Amino acid sequence: MRKKIVAGNWKMNTTVPEGVELAKAVVAKSAEVPADVTLIVATPFTHLCPVAAVVEGTRVALSAENCADKEKGAYTGEVSAAMLASAGCKYTILGHSERRQYYGETDEKLVEKTRLALANGLDVILCVGENLDEREAGRHFDVCEAQIKNVLFNFSAEELKHIVIAYEPVWAIGTGKTATAAQAEEIHAFIRKTVAGKFGAEAAEEVSILYGGSCKPSNAKELFAEKDIDGGLIGGAALKADDFIGIAVSF
Ligand code: PGA
Repeated sequence: MRKKIVAGNWKMNTTVPEGVELAKAVVAKSAEVPADVTLIVATPFTHLCPVAAVVEGTRVALSAENCADKEKGAYTGEVSAAMLASAGCKYTILGHSERRQYYGETDEKLVEKTRLALANGLDVILCVGENLDEREAGRHFDVCEAQIKNVLFNFSAEELKHIVIAYEPVWAIGTGKTATAAQAEEIHAFIRKTVAGKFGAEAAEEVSILYGGSCKPSNAKELFAEKDIDGGLIGGAALKADDFIGIAVSF
């Protein structure tokens, strides 16, 4: 049985005290969520240690939003996978479209980042997704397939067990414009088929594929009801504990 996951991606939001309060509120409400749902909060680097102290011993797992593509050394401003693990992270998000778009994150760099994250015991939430032009040109399948092949196909079936895929159509992120459940399911099923082509049907069945892009309590139920949608990567709605938990109870 593959995991159901709801992960909050806080992005560059909240001060440290605000983030600690948000994490406390998520922990306080987490009992409302069915026990088989994995809850994750992905916070800015500055928040990891204090939030780790809040979530320790609870069912909420900690994630980073990114990690370095180098192991250690003279890379001013970077944060390594080993540092994240030592700060209490169980996961890191990698390849978010905002990193690809604004910070030149390439598939080659993502292979290195994923390799280092896995080597340091982190599970990876690997993001893929097309932008509006690509969707309108009917290229969304090709774009997602290339992103999956260029990164995921460099890893083994054993490593795949530590990777979660997040499909996030760029045109739906922070825009209030959600993919319909049918649009999302179409791509999720395609991604699973792509994974199966390399790793086999059984391994592909075990991979959790999350939807991200303006997911909220009012649309989560419809999305999560789809057979290949195993949860959500939540941006804006993760900044309010009520909304985040409101999504997590939608399975
Ligand atoms: P959003 O962001 O929920 O605010 O659209 C999702 C994401 O970028 O992970």
